Amino acid sequence: MKSVAIIGAQWGDEGKGKITDLLSERSDLVVRYQGGNNAGHTIIVDGKKIVLHLIPSGVLRGDVTAVIGHGVVFDPQAFCQEMITLKSWDGDIDASRIKISANCPVVTSYHHLLDRCREEHKGGVTIGTTLKGIGPCYEDKVARRAVRVGDLLNKQLLSKRLAAMLSEKEYLFTHLYKAEFPTLEEERDRLLELGNLIRPHICDTFSLVDQAVAKGKKVLFEGAQGVLLDIDYGSYPYVTSSNTTVGGIFTGGSPSGAAPEAVIGITKAYTTRVGEGPFPTEQLGEIGEKLQSIGGERGATTGRKRRCGWLDLPLLRYAIKASHLTSLALTKLDILSGFDQLKLCTGYHYQGEMIDCAFPGIDLEQVEPIYEDLALFDDKFEDGISEKSLSPNLKNYIKRIEELAGVPVDILAYGPGRDQVIIRKTFF
Ligand code: GDP
Ligand code: IMO
Ligand code: MG
Repeated sequence: MKSVAIIGAQWGDEGKGKITDLLSERSDLVVRYQGGNNAGHTIIVDGKKIVLHLIPSGVLRGDVTAVIGHGVVFDPQAFCQEMITLKSWDGDIDASRIKISANCPVVTSYHHLLDRCREEHKGGVTIGTTLKGIGPCYEDKVARRAVRVGDLLNKQLLSKRLAAMLSEKEYLFTHLYKAEFPTLEEERDRLLELGNLIRPHICDTFSLVDQAVAKGKKVLFEGAQGVLLDIDYGSYPYVTSSNTTVGGIFTGGSPSGAAPEAVIGITKAYTTRVGEGPFPTEQLGEIGEKLQSIGGERGATTGRKRRCGWLDLPLLRYAIKASHLTSLALTKLDILSGFDQLKLCTGYHYQGEMIDCAFPGIDLEQVEPIYEDLALFDDKFEDGISEKSLSPNLKNYIKRIEELAGVPVDILAYGPGRDQVIIRKTFF
C-alpha cells in the first residue's frame, strides 16, 4: 500500500500514537491533518515514554518526514516546548525532517483566553475542552480572519491580521468576560519571536506531499481525537472543532492523489471518554474504577481522569460508517485480563425499538444499552507472543467484536510498548 490512515474510532485516546509509531517504521511521510495540541499521543520505546501533541508520531523513526498539514491549528509556543522535550528524549533527532504548513491557522493567546472564558461563563455549554484554544482558533479560520503560520514571518502583515482578529474579541474580553488580555503589540512581538524560531520548518506541505506521492513514497496519515469527537459526525455539541474522520485528510492534509487505501480505526477493547457528554456504556461503580486504575486512564494532555465503560458496538459500527474504516486495531486487551466480568454492548433499546447502530440524530442520553456476557480470559501476554498462544476465550472476544463490527481486527495490542502487538495484516 502507498497510503494508510490511522483514525480514532471512539472518543480519542485509543492508542493512535502507538499504532502510528508502529506503522511509520515502513512509511516515508507521516502527516497530521487536523486538531492541534489538544491531542496527546503516547509512545513508549524501550521503557522510555514520550507524549507528542503537535509533532507527528512518525518523528521517532529516523528517516520519516513528519508533516504538520494546513488543517492543523498550530500553537507555535507549544511546538517549541515540544521540540525541547523531543530533543531531550533523543538528542540525535534530526529536526529538519519536521515540516509545518505555512497555511496552518495560528493559536494565539487570545484563543487560549477565549476558550477559558467560554468554559467558565455561566449560561454557556460546558464542553470540558482541553483549554488549548482549539475551538476559538477554528472559529477564526472559518470566519476568515485567522493569522496563519506564514504571517508570523512578516511584521506588517502580522499586525494587520492581529488587528482584524482582535477587533471583536477586545469587546468580548472587556465587556462580556471582563478578562485581562495582551495588547496587540505584546502579542505581535511574542509571535514574531516564535515565528523566527520555527522559520526553518515552514514550507508548502501541499506540494511536499504531492511530490512524495508522485514519486511513489509511502504516506501515513495520523488522525487526532476520534470519530465521536468529529464536529460533523460526533456527539455534538460535546465534540472538538475539526473533522477527525477520514474526510479531514482531504481538506487538511493532502491532495487527492494520496487517498488512503486502508483506513485503520483504533479502538480500545473497552471505551473511555474525557470531558463532558453522553456515554451510554459508562460504568460509574467498581468496574469503571477498575478500568480507570488498571488501564492508567488519565488524559495525556490534561491529566484528567478518563471516564470508562464497556466496548460499545453500536457506536463502533457508526464510527466504521462515518469514517469509512476498513480495518480495526484493538488496543489494551491486556487491561481486561483477569476481570471477573466481561461485557460487550451489542445494541440499544431506544424509543421502543432495538437498534444496533448509533446513527446521528439519536439521543445518546436516552439509549439503554443491551449487553452480552463473554467468557472471561486471564492471559499473561509475554512479550513477543504470537496469536497461537492467546487463550480460546480471548480469541473468542476478538472474534465476537469482528462479527459485530463487520470489519476485521488486523492489529492487536497487549501493552503500551512499541513491540507489544500482534500484526495480522501487513499494510506497508
Ligand atoms: P492516543 O491519543 O490515541 O495516541 O492515545 P493516548 O496516548 O492518549 O492514550 C493511550 C494510552 O494507552 C497510552 O498511555 C498508551 O501508552 C497506552 N496504550 C496503548 N496501547 C496499549 C495497550 O495495548 N495496552 C496498554 N496497557 N496500554 C496501551
Ligand atoms: P487524542 O488525539 C481525548 C476532547 C476534550 C473535550 C472535547 C473538546 O489524544 O485522542 P477541545 O479542546 O478539542 O475543544 O475539546 O474534545 N478532546 C479529546 N479527548 N483525546 C483527545 O485527543 C482529545 N482532544 C480533545 O476532552 O471533551
Ligand atoms: Mg491522547
